[in-house]
Amino acid sequence: MENCSLPQDALFLGFDCSTQSLKATVLDANLKIYATAVVNFDSELPHYKTKDGVYRDLLVNGRIVSPTLMWVEALDLIIQRLEMSKLDFGKIIAVSGSAQQHGSVYWKRGSSVVLASLDSKKALVEQLGDAFSVKESPIWMDCSTTEQCRAIEEAVGGALELSKLTGSCAHERYAGPQIRKVFETQPEVYKNTERISLVSSFMASLLIGGHACIDHTDGAGMNLMDIKLRAWSKKALEATAPDLEEKLGNLAPAHAVAGLISNYYVERYHFKSTCLVVEWSGDNPNSLAGLTLNAPGDLAISLGTSDTVFGISNDHKPSLQGHIFPDPVDAEDYMVMLVYKNGSLTREDIRNRCANKSWEVFNTYLQQTPPLNGGKLGFYYKEHEILPPLPVGEHRYVLENFENDSLCGLRERTVNEFDAPSEVRAIIEGQLLSMRAHAEKIGMPSPPRRIIATGGASSNKCILSLMASIFGCNIYTVQRPGLLMVGCATRGELSCLSNACTWTNWSKHL
Ligand code: ADP
Ligand code: XUL
Repeated sequence: MENCSLPQDALFLGFDCSTQSLKATVLDANLKIYATAVVNFDSELPHYKTKDGVYRDLLVNGRIVSPTLMWVEALDLIIQRLEMSKLDFGKIIAVSGSAQQHGSVYWKRGSSVVLASLDSKKALVEQLGDAFSVKESPIWMDCSTTEQCRAIEEAVGGALELSKLTGSCAHERYAGPQIRKVFETQPEVYKNTERISLVSSFMASLLIGGHACIDHTDGAGMNLMDIKLRAWSKKALEATAPDLEEKLGNLAPAHAVAGLISNYYVERYHFKSTCLVVEWSGDNPNSLAGLTLNAPGDLAISLGTSDTVFGISNDHKPSLQGHIFPDPVDAEDYMVMLVYKNGSLTREDIRNRCANKSWEVFNTYLQQTPPLNGGKLGFYYKEHEILPPLPVGEHRYVLENFENDSLCGLRERTVNEFDAPSEVRAIIEGQLLSMRAHAEKIGMPSPPRRIIATGGASSNKCILSLMASIFGCNIYTVQRPGLLMVGCATRGELSCLSNACTWTNWSKHL
């Protein structure tokens, strides 16, 4: 970073507010990790009684939410953790973050006043207890808005039309259908809502002490933004709920500065009052920024709580399956993505039932079973799946005559269970085969030039080896932890330095 006029000891703070935890990483000016901290929602904030960071509503089909205040409390707690590690907050020149996409937060009328006058002697959670008109935020796992999705699509002229306009057809987890549901089922609550944030802009709001903008990339995951103009689409807003534009506020580029850090953090934790807060964005766009994915032949696969497959495209081809967002780095390009709800938690479920709750046993089974599993195919949906949109259930097939070299006489037979090792191979092969088939369908590179794997399960070499066989290309992983934070902290850095450093400069550090 030789050309940059940064203090030698400058630090950048990046957060990742995901489904199961809030993580923080501090980077130095060479993008080396300086400090980290994690707050696991279930185990460290047990009074919210979440499981995997969420509430699965047993009464309302498909309703999956997280308590908004839990994220508020986690923010103070994680900063306290960093403080205990003797971090000098005064050296942090920019803060940004990444968050699970699509989740929506509903601020009550008057909340901007509360946010602007936070008292540094009290915890955030004490002051924001009454700031939300909806106390439980619908998150990306929610699928309770099918009715609203169909109504929105119909109002704009069909699913493909909505995809052309906003980058995706209507999806249950997207904020637009969720907002329409709040308006339809709780009109008074909707009326009493001053601002609607995504989880990303909500966390940035807590840091600046005011309502932060939604960034263009995460904003594309709402079915509300005109993907070409990067502005709210009047047609989509009208199809969703009345008076919505004023509740959404402005949109901003992913690298824009949201504001200076609130006095709350200056007085309570001794941040410098000049510390910038850069807009937060979604976790998948931040991965793309952190990976410096810049060639259309590259594919990234993230194996986290959700599984996602994403790459870059030079043009916008509307589709009914994938999602298109503006590229958070290059304003000319698009990010194309597939999303699976049954990712790590479903793999964990099979590991717990069939492999003695151990990834080691799970991997032994992967190694001792043959490629293509002797014709045993399995698809496992612990949660209602996004791709394909199927309900909870397990589907196992055995291909008869599989041992013959020809496809003639190949028939499938449905079975109820496999032996434990085959069950383990079936879930991994089923997930990866589905990714490959769907990626090809929406025009992603086939075979890809290379795949970059990220997310918790990318630490598992046996899973990566199957990925290499199924996609027919080399797999790379990013060795350093906190890739997302590199993405958002470097967006922060970009913002501070304007054009002094180029992406290529810092990408050398990855
Ligand atoms: P998030 O999407 O919430 O940020 P992470 O990317 O941190 O999630 O991934 C967490 C998941 O990683 C866990 O739920 C766990 O199932 C999975 N995981 C961790 N280690 C392994 C492993 N060795 N093999 C497979 N999966 C793993
Ligand atoms: C993306 C999606 C998930 C969440 C997980 O569309 O729904 O990947 O972002 O945090």
